[in-house]
Amino acid sequence: MEYGFKAPPEPKHVDRKLLYTSLEERIKYLHAFLDFNSSDVEALVSGTKYIKQLIPAVVNLVYKKLLECDITSRAFHTRNTVDETEPEEDYLDEDAPQIKRRKMFLRWYLTRLCQDPTTMDFWRYLNKVGMMHSGQVRRSPLNIEYIHLGACMGYIQDIWIEAMMSHPHLSLRRKIALVRAVNKILWIQNDLFARYHCSDGEEFADEMSVMSFDDQEGYLGDKRILGSSSNSSVDDDRSSISSGVAPSTHSVAPSTKTSTSVAASASKTSVCPFADMAKPSSTETKIWAN
Ligand code: HEM
Repeated sequence: MEYGFKAPPEPKHVDRKLLYTSLEERIKYLHAFLDFNSSDVEALVSGTKYIKQLIPAVVNLVYKKLLECDITSRAFHTRNTVDETEPEEDYLDEDAPQIKRRKMFLRWYLTRLCQDPTTMDFWRYLNKVGMMHSGQVRRSPLNIEYIHLGACMGYIQDIWIEAMMSHPHLSLRRKIALVRAVNKILWIQNDLFARYHCSDGEEFADEMSVMSFDDQEGYLGDKRILGSSSNSSVDDDRSSISSGVAPSTHSVAPSTKTSTSVAASASKTSVCPFADMAKPSSTETKIWAN
């Protein structure tokens, strides 16, 4: 009996330097690794409607979360999370005009996530969002340490999974496809935050493409998007909070309580934007628990 020896396939070559010096190559590598493929694009295109429905609630929940603790809330005064000096003004609450404006920017961002991910422009935009939080933009730098960015991505992902999986009408097949596709995008965004906070590849720093960056407020928001979503005014934030979509409407001063008590209070509230559409069932998730 002959045992045919089959040589293992040659591994695909990935040029390490290009991962740091070419955004396109970095994105290509992440796509290949995560298997971001045409099924994901199809799921996103056909699911845009469901993603868009979630945007106002996600924005409210994210800002509620960011204002909950002083270390993140301070960033809206000081543009950084490093300086622990108390701000001279009062901490902002969700209804402060500055926060409403910021919410609008986040809404633009999330709306942009619903657009065509097959173009490099899409990924360039995500990369700019990553870079602008890294303190590397010269004019009025915004320096948010990675721990907060990573946690925030995790929080967005958690809202997303819970909301999609408990959607009352979508088939399980579509829920799974949408959760997977959006998660891949969120993980790529996470990489595009992390890359500006770690020293990997720093030996190529001189060769990294220099991005011209106009860091004027709202620069990252696409005005066309704002135009096309004219029915989502700043007031939408309020209505979506008070419609039972988001947890408690009470604005609280940023908390300095222990993480256990923060976690305990967070777990009391459901984050599901579809909560009011669902009938109670015996297979309740934590969303329906309250
Ligand atoms: C991780 C998910 C996050 C995403 C997707 C995100 C996205 C954005 C976007 C799109 C803008 C608007 C940029 C513009 O057009 O001017 C922005 C601005 C801002 N973000 Fe984030 N952000 C995230 C996390 C955070 C965290 C964790 C903090 C604070 C702890 C933070 C603090 C800020 C501040 C202070 C601004 C305002 C910058 C300005 O005044 O121009 N962000 N963010």
